[in-house]
Amino acid sequence: MQLFVDTADVEEIRELAGTGVVDGVTTNPTLVAKTGRPLFQVLEEICRLVPGPVSAEVTATDAGTMVAEGRRLAEVAPNIVVKLPLTRDGLEACHRLEKEGIRTNVTLCFSPAQALLAARAGASYVSPFVGRLDDVGEEGMGLVADIVAIFRNYRESIRTRVLAASIRHVAHVIEAARLGADIATVPPAVLRQLLRHPLTDLGLERFLADWRATGQRIL
Ligand code: G3P
Repeated sequence: MQLFVDTADVEEIRELAGTGVVDGVTTNPTLVAKTGRPLFQVLEEICRLVPGPVSAEVTATDAGTMVAEGRRLAEVAPNIVVKLPLTRDGLEACHRLEKEGIRTNVTLCFSPAQALLAARAGASYVSPFVGRLDDVGEEGMGLVADIVAIFRNYRESIRTRVLAASIRHVAHVIEAARLGADIATVPPAVLRQLLRHPLTDLGLERFLADWRATGQRIL
């Protein structure tokens, strides 16, 4: 499973990308608003830092303007993926942009039926929102499991990749990988938590103390 980082904070991306574990980035209007910075400046900087797919979301609600916004966003860099909401117009815009060779990520997916439609429209990625379903008492990971299972039945005709989004904690990431999601997009704090284990810290402390006691150096 690939890991994308779910943020528009360029400094966070710079720090995390240095580890080599960041395959791509997803942004949305809320995440861009949080930075307080101009959208295009943020996107240009992110695309320079990460060569993998960088999702940038349209803010129009009619297909024609979504397509125009998508074309403008795609001009930023070849790795831009245009994020579109899972609405009737979002699907039309997805279909039109993909035909032009612009990759799309259909977002705000809350049902297997919606995911199937995104795939039929030709989306490169579909983003089921796990945490937001959990928030309303539903089983977010159940949605990921359903979509992965459905898409597996049609490997030849469905190329759409399942991008587990609205990930809130480490267990979500592990479960998404267990279920076979293609990608999980993970907030920076959760990505850092994936790295940590108290036994790693304790073990390292012991190795270093024992090494210091020898009085030797490698360099
Ligand atoms: O980028 C979309 C998504 O990951 C949003 O997550 O935590 O706002 O539900 P969240």
